[in-house]
Amino acid sequence: MSTVAVIGSAGQLGSDLVALLRESGRDKVVALSHRDIEVANPRSVRSALGAVRPDILINCAAFVRVDDCEDQPETAFLVNAVGALYVAQACRESNALCVYISTDYVFDGQKGTSYTEEDCPHPINVYGASKLAGEHLVRQACPRSLVVRTASLFGVTGARGKDGNFIEAIIAKAQRADPIRVVDDIRTSPTYSRDAAAGLEALLRQETTGVVHLTNSGACTWYEFARTILDYAGADATPQAVSSREYGARARRPADSTLVSARLPPLHINRLRPWQEALKAYLIETGRATRKGH
Ligand SMILES: NC(=O)c1ccc[n+]([C@@H]2O[C@H](COP(=O)([O-])OP(=O)(O)OC[C@H]3O[C@@H](n4cnc5c(N)ncnc54)[C@H](OP(=O)(O)O)[C@@H]3O)[C@@H](O)[C@H]2O)c1
Repeated sequence: MSTVAVIGSAGQLGSDLVALLRESGRDKVVALSHRDIEVANPRSVRSALGAVRPDILINCAAFVRVDDCEDQPETAFLVNAVGALYVAQACRESNALCVYISTDYVFDGQKGTSYTEEDCPHPINVYGASKLAGEHLVRQACPRSLVVRTASLFGVTGARGKDGNFIEAIIAKAQRADPIRVVDDIRTSPTYSRDAAAGLEALLRQETTGVVHLTNSGACTWYEFARTILDYAGADATPQAVSSREYGARARRPADSTLVSARLPPLHINRLRPWQEALKAYLIETGRATRKGH
């Protein structure tokens, strides 16, 4: 039986991953939350991973608040890049497979179609730059590594670093009858963290290395996503479409950073289901599905 350790285990993706790996019962699963390990501290990394000695290490820890990364680049690079390096070095020393979770924000969004694993990254914000640096450091430091890029995660735990997820924020605004302003000039591939966890497990079973894109299929603007959420949840509210300039977030976002995987088909791993189906599954899981959601 292999030992799989998950760093960032209390987060949105990490918690789904731990639950799924435990359900499948094939491995010993060790959950490492921020209380158990500080990736930015090499002594903490060595001591936590030395005690566990995993065969596979999945690093889901990150500084994920994209706007705050603009104001705190040192923290972004310390956690997302240097911390990832410490983890990868510990993996190399114990010959463990090091899995680093990365992001669509490593791309600039100018390609005009979805990005494959072959495309050249070019981040346009500090978060994306710090994650790309993390990718490079992990691949350089650890001969057995896997970088999994995902996007716009939604899961039951909600991104701890972002105080929830987009779906919950939209539904809460509708319930309070607050105005719902949503950006309509940025396209993404919304991804259910449970689906990403299942895809990740399939990659681990095949001992995949290199870079793999893992998102729910299809793409939409954040405005289209919000409309679909409200429709499926049966909420009587209409979002207002705004441009990203009008919205005025501190960090620039890529206009179209949707991902597609060229690597999954040759591995005989199914691409993840369409984001609309994943959204319905999420609403069922959280007890919010209506007629339309079924
Ligand atoms: N959320 C998205 O939309 C999205 C999109 C693309 C890629 N990703 C990537 O997917 C991964 C998982 O994201 P997520 O949405 O699950 O984020 P999340 O819910 O914020 O989870 C991240 C976890 O990492 C922990 N953590 C933060 N800093 C740490 C540190 N210095 N040392 C150890 N643990 C630390 C956090 O603990 P505390 O909360 O206690 O600090 C949290 O439990 C990340 O690599 C992220 O870059 C996310």
